[in-house]
Amino acid sequence: MVLASGTGTLLTALLTAAADESYPARVVAVVVDRPCRAEDVAARFDIPVVRCALADHPDRAAWDVAITDAVARFGPALVVTAGFMKILGPTFLSRFGGTILNSHPALLPSFPGAHAVADALEHGVVVTGATIHLVDDGVDTGPILMQAPVMIDTDDDEASLHSRIKSVEHVLLVQAVAAFVTRGVTSHGRKARFS
Ligand code: GRF
Repeated sequence: MVLASGTGTLLTALLTAAADESYPARVVAVVVDRPCRAEDVAARFDIPVVRCALADHPDRAAWDVAITDAVARFGPALVVTAGFMKILGPTFLSRFGGTILNSHPALLPSFPGAHAVADALEHGVVVTGATIHLVDDGVDTGPILMQAPVMIDTDDDEASLHSRIKSVEHVLLVQAVAAFVTRGVTSHGRKARFS
C-alpha cells in the first residue's frame, strides 16, 4: 500500500520494481489525500486509487479514521508513505504502527519536515541525502532503516538538488521495501534495523 500526494516518482519506482516477478512485494492500492499526479501513475499501472481528503471530513480525527479504514480494507503487510504530505493520526498509527515506511529527502535527524531540501541549501551543508525510516508519532522522527548521501553542488537550487535526491530515494525505497518484506525489521527500543 502506498500513500502519496505528489508527482508520484517514488510510486513509479516501486511500481516498476514490483512489475518484475522476482521483486518480493506488490502494490495493492494507492491512497492519496488530494488530486495529484500520483493518481495518474497508479491508473497507468492499473492499481486501485482511493482519494481520502481531509477537506471531505468534519475534522482531522474523522479523516484519521477514514484513511485508516480505506487502507485497512486492502489488508496491506506494509504501508509506504511516498511523498505523502499529511501527518498520520493516532488511529492510523495504532493500526499500522511498525509497518509504515517513509522516504525523506535529507539525512535525518537533520532537516525533518516538509522543506528538507530548501532547509539543507539554506543551512549551507555540503552533504545531504535520503533516509528511509519507520513512521512514529513525530515528524520524521521514527527509527532510521537506510540512508544514502548526496553531495550539494555550489550551483544547486532546490529543484536540481531535489531531483538528484529523488533519484537516490527511488533506489533506496525499492531496496528498503524488499528488505522489509523478506527480512522484516528488528527493534531495540528506538533503534530499528533490518534483521
Ligand atoms: C520525495 O522527495 C519525498 O521524500 C518527499 O516528497 C517527494 C515525493 O516525490 N516527501 P514524488 O511525488 O514521489 O515525485
